[in-house]
Amino acid sequence: MAKTSNTKKVVKSASNGLADLLTQRLQSIYWAESELLKTLPQLKEQSNSQKLQAAITEHIAQTQMHVTRLEEIFSALKEKAGAIKCEGLQGILKEGAVTISQAEEGPVRDAAIIGACQLVEHYEIASYGTLAAYAKVLNEKQVLDLLLKTLTEEKKSDQILSAIADTQLNASATTSRA
Ligand SMILES: [Fe+2]
Repeated sequence: MAKTSNTKKVVKSASNGLADLLTQRLQSIYWAESELLKTLPQLKEQSNSQKLQAAITEHIAQTQMHVTRLEEIFSALKEKAGAIKCEGLQGILKEGAVTISQAEEGPVRDAAIIGACQLVEHYEIASYGTLAAYAKVLNEKQVLDLLLKTLTEEKKSDQILSAIADTQLNASATTSRA
């Protein structure tokens, strides 16, 4: 009997811990998405290709939607929307800014911008995938649906950036060295 009661206690406390972890990771990605809203317009200004500029414009609108969706998620969890600094994303953005500033203006810089954006996308894909896994275990269906919508959009953005790099930029970047 004592064993059963202990097991129940452990399960309950693990579940509370996971809910806290979900909130903490949501706060981190909320900071990250808000930071991206400030950074993406600068990347657009530095880019040369019209296709890349159009993709970044689209991405800014999508990022705004991701921020709004996170606010819906906090509200569904009856939590106040809050942000904690995301050191991981900040590091990616800092490194990206250095790489971009050192790249020759034109196709090479565009290639550096795409590379930086794709590192961000992969960070977001990993983050939203983890958050969705937590929401699933916690049986937070509404939260899970919202997270999966964003996850799908992040994957799509990554594919769009890959397509621009494959069809246009990386080849031009090679030519510009010749
Ligand atoms: Fe996003």
